[in-house]
Amino acid sequence: MPATIIVGAQWGDEGKGKATDLLADATDLVVRYQGGNNAGHTVIVGDEVFKLHLIPSGILYDHVTPIIADGVVIDPKVMLQELDGLEERGLRPFERVKVSGNAHLIMPYHRELDLLIERRLGKANLGTTKRGIGPAYADKASRVGLRFQDLFDEKIFRQKLDAVLVHKNEQLAKIYNRLPMDLEEIADEYLGYAERLRPLLTDSTELIHSALEAGQHIILEGAQGTLLDLDHGTYPFVTSSNPVAGGALTGAGLGPKHVDRVIGITKAYVTRVGAGPFPTELFDEVGERMTDVGGEYGTTTGRRRRVGWFDAVLARYAERVNGFTDLFLTKLDVLSGFDTLKLATAYRYDGQEYRNFPPHQSIFHHAEPVYEEVPGWGSDISEVTRYEDLPQAARDYVDAIEESAGAPVTWVSVGPKRSQTLIRRDVPLVPTG
Ligand code: IMP
Repeated sequence: MPATIIVGAQWGDEGKGKATDLLADATDLVVRYQGGNNAGHTVIVGDEVFKLHLIPSGILYDHVTPIIADGVVIDPKVMLQELDGLEERGLRPFERVKVSGNAHLIMPYHRELDLLIERRLGKANLGTTKRGIGPAYADKASRVGLRFQDLFDEKIFRQKLDAVLVHKNEQLAKIYNRLPMDLEEIADEYLGYAERLRPLLTDSTELIHSALEAGQHIILEGAQGTLLDLDHGTYPFVTSSNPVAGGALTGAGLGPKHVDRVIGITKAYVTRVGAGPFPTELFDEVGERMTDVGGEYGTTTGRRRRVGWFDAVLARYAERVNGFTDLFLTKLDVLSGFDTLKLATAYRYDGQEYRNFPPHQSIFHHAEPVYEEVPGWGSDISEVTRYEDLPQAARDYVDAIEESAGAPVTWVSVGPKRSQTLIRRDVPLVPTG
């Protein structure tokens, strides 16, 4: 059976956990393919709320095997904390979660450097989550990273650490005036995690391909979002991995022939955490109301998210770089009660109009949104259970999003619970091709 990719269509926090939740009954494996514990997925199952950072949200469903694939970066301390928390809630993560030996490790110097680099950038900082993500991916690209499999070979672990620590300590001392880090201390800590983590070590591509051959269904679960993609996002205000659909293939180790659905998750408005341009950002009471009603505070860092009107230029761009087969529109309920709503259909800069994502970053930085105004709806829609029962204005708003984004809206979410998901297009949850 083919695989489904779930991708954030904006700057992250779109509600990807909810889409996984919807498909969970029909799936067998949920694979995280990039990022690390910079992510924060909130999933509500029944009356229970789970906040996950690294472990794929498939863990919440007994029949699902959650996999952390090659493209992910792992902080073993944080992973153990999350596994222990899930164990306490009876989810048996030490038996069920599988981790690729090729996934890279976040080391103590990565966390430290993430902090120091941000501090040094001063006002020009990126607003990272300070989890060591960027420095860990940088070492991976420089071929000096340590991998999950190295935890289980003490000699190799020490050898690699010894080689890389010389440079890290030089950097810490000479550039940042910090004390050097101690090899023995790091080795003791990390090798100390190995015993408990050994049962998780897996050849994840083998597992994924056996599942595909056996006709099982797989979800490739993205973290962050398209506009935070290292190659296709709003560089340099991006994360250091590839959340886009293409990144799912490299991160998990499978070819395009295995994928036949790419679900883009998008809020009915836009949010962003951290620094960087945001053309439709709101600084007024409208934005404040969206933040409060939408509970727009980060799951990982607790930071207040920036909010703005729906941006169709960005939605079209996300469609282009991911090839969405479906859109899952979330948080439509947050927009109830506004007299009018705005959608940015283009940008204006220097007398010129841009319907598509501008080719140069400076244009994007100074882009003025061109808005289309549409009527809002007065009533609360969070109790609506059938799409047809939404107010006409709400359905018109969804039509406008679909038309401007260029991909069909299949599901519309009007609240955090699974029951608050409305089906707009009646398509099979899991394709049978
Ligand atoms: P990093 O991933 O910690 O390096 O942070 C780089 C940028 O990505 C910052 O603007 C972060 O706020 C943002 N970011 C990273 N992870 C997430 C996420 O899961 N949701 C939203 N923004 C994120």
